[in-house]
Amino acid sequence: MFKIAVIGAGTMGNGIAHVFAQHGFAVQLVDPKEDQLKKAISVISKNMERQVQKGLLSAEEKLAALSRIRTSGQINNGVRDADLIIEAATENEAIKLQIFRELDELALPDAILASNTSSISITRIAGVTKNPSRVIGMHFMNPVPLMKLVEVINGFVTADSVTKKIIELTIQLGKTPCVVNDYPGFVANRILMPMINEAIISLQEGVASVESIDTIMKLGMAHPMGPLQLADFIGLDVCLAILKVMQDEFGNPKYAAATLLKNMVASGNLGVKSGRGFYDYRSGTKELKVNSKFSQG
Ligand SMILES: NC(=O)c1ccc[n+]([C@@H]2O[C@H](COP(=O)([O-])OP(=O)(O)OC[C@H]3O[C@@H](n4cnc5c(N)ncnc54)[C@H](O)[C@@H]3O)[C@@H](O)[C@H]2O)c1
Repeated sequence: MFKIAVIGAGTMGNGIAHVFAQHGFAVQLVDPKEDQLKKAISVISKNMERQVQKGLLSAEEKLAALSRIRTSGQINNGVRDADLIIEAATENEAIKLQIFRELDELALPDAILASNTSSISITRIAGVTKNPSRVIGMHFMNPVPLMKLVEVINGFVTADSVTKKIIELTIQLGKTPCVVNDYPGFVANRILMPMINEAIISLQEGVASVESIDTIMKLGMAHPMGPLQLADFIGLDVCLAILKVMQDEFGNPKYAAATLLKNMVASGNLGVKSGRGFYDYRSGTKELKVNSKFSQG
């Protein structure tokens, strides 16, 4: 049986654990924060319940899938027998490099080491391991159970057999793989983040309100959600981290993050995960309410 380990139990880690468990894989979910592990299991259970309500999963399948997920606070407990390890920890290069150094020591020699990074160089991550040909990017989209795309990123020396296996697994999960090369932000965020940043700069300059900016992009461009709502959903800290990587790597000021984005992150307004971003999520209702900081009148 092909076994999966997921490192990091945040927004993405819980989604990745969810889809693999739902498709019959045994999953070990690792996070040093006990509360994050508890929250992840509760989120997975709630999201699976929603699938049951929609008739996409039976109640028995939900229970079976949940029973396939084990959690651990320590990386050395979780990864030793995994065939594929997917790192989905905080978007911070130092953290990721340290995790891959540890995985290099702990993982089975034939295990594939994947990163769900949004922007950090797969080649540089692979460079801290003894066998960089087994390292690859497996970039899931948020929310993982719903989104069909997996951006598969070949590092400079990723083996063809590794890419092939990741493509095969992606299809097994009912998703569509798209293979790209290792450039900052890859394709998805290289195109998405400048748009989100420009929306934040437009708000900062007073060009339009939060609602107007999002409505224009939703109705005018047929986007399912506006860029400010999407930024909240991704996490404003994650957006800032991605823009920083692209600005540093390309050396082009067009990727410089909006001051407003930096201020939002510095003040703990991180979006959905902290309860407040451009919108206010603290009431828990479905109706979107603009953060009072940006409401007009
Ligand atoms: N949020 C998105 O929409 C999105 C989409 C695609 C990819 N990503 C990428 O996925 C990764 C995770 O993002 P997220 O949004 O889930 O972040 P998050 O902040 O929700 O979760 C990160 C988790 O990593 C854990 N962590 C930190 N250091 C760790 C370590 N040494 N070992 C194990 N776990 C550790 C944290 O405790 C936290 O639970 C990032 O690389 C991000 O760029 C995010």
